[in-house]
Amino acid sequence: MKNIRAVIFDLDGVLVFTDKYHYQAWKKVADRLGVPFDEEDNNRLRGVSREESLEIILEKYKGDPLSAEDKKKLTEEKNAIYVNLLSQMSREDVSRSVRRVLSDIRERGYKLAVGSSSKNAGLILEKTELKDAFDAVSDGNNITKSKPDPEVFLKGADMLCEAPEHCLVVEDAKAGILAGNAGGMYTAAIGDAVKSGKADYDMFSLSELLYLLD
Ligand code: BG6
Ligand code: MG
Repeated sequence: MKNIRAVIFDLDGVLVFTDKYHYQAWKKVADRLGVPFDEEDNNRLRGVSREESLEIILEKYKGDPLSAEDKKKLTEEKNAIYVNLLSQMSREDVSRSVRRVLSDIRERGYKLAVGSSSKNAGLILEKTELKDAFDAVSDGNNITKSKPDPEVFLKGADMLCEAPEHCLVVEDAKAGILAGNAGGMYTAAIGDAVKSGKADYDMFSLSELLYLLD
């Protein structure tokens, strides 16, 4: 990796394990619709917007046709369940090792941003007291296209005043790795994204970043 100056972190599934709450909330909606939905299906929703997630779930839906209004209600229902689950989050939901990795990287002079598709990123950062660890937050509220489109990361790089080729994206979603690649950034996969085989680097743990960055 040459001349990396900034690291853009996905949030859900990389820094905090809200992916389990997304799963629980979608599972309730899917059960009510009579749609089979397991953790494997849930992996397809990683990094994907709320609306697109619903469309993926509805691929196996066999009930009466749903109007745009019905779909809006379903995404609102999912979000209400999800936000309720988030209310139990606190500083303890970010591990000491994650905080240490973030502070070490920053002390070494790298700029740090969040690049998340979630409209709830601000709430999560607030509840976990993680916001001050970053120089910028690019999230689902400032984008029109969700990952694998690179928009969220390009906006993050812009906020940091860094060119894409000087940025490293850290992601747990295949869609996020593809987004980072499409944006001309270096990519590091963790968790489920490793299976994609599309990242420049595969990591078992976030602390490997300390060795990846020179
Ligand atoms: C991403 C998650 O971070 O945010 C996706 O990986 C989720 O699963 C997306 O659908 C949108 O989240 P929210 O909080 O705006 O519904
Ligand atoms: Mg993620």
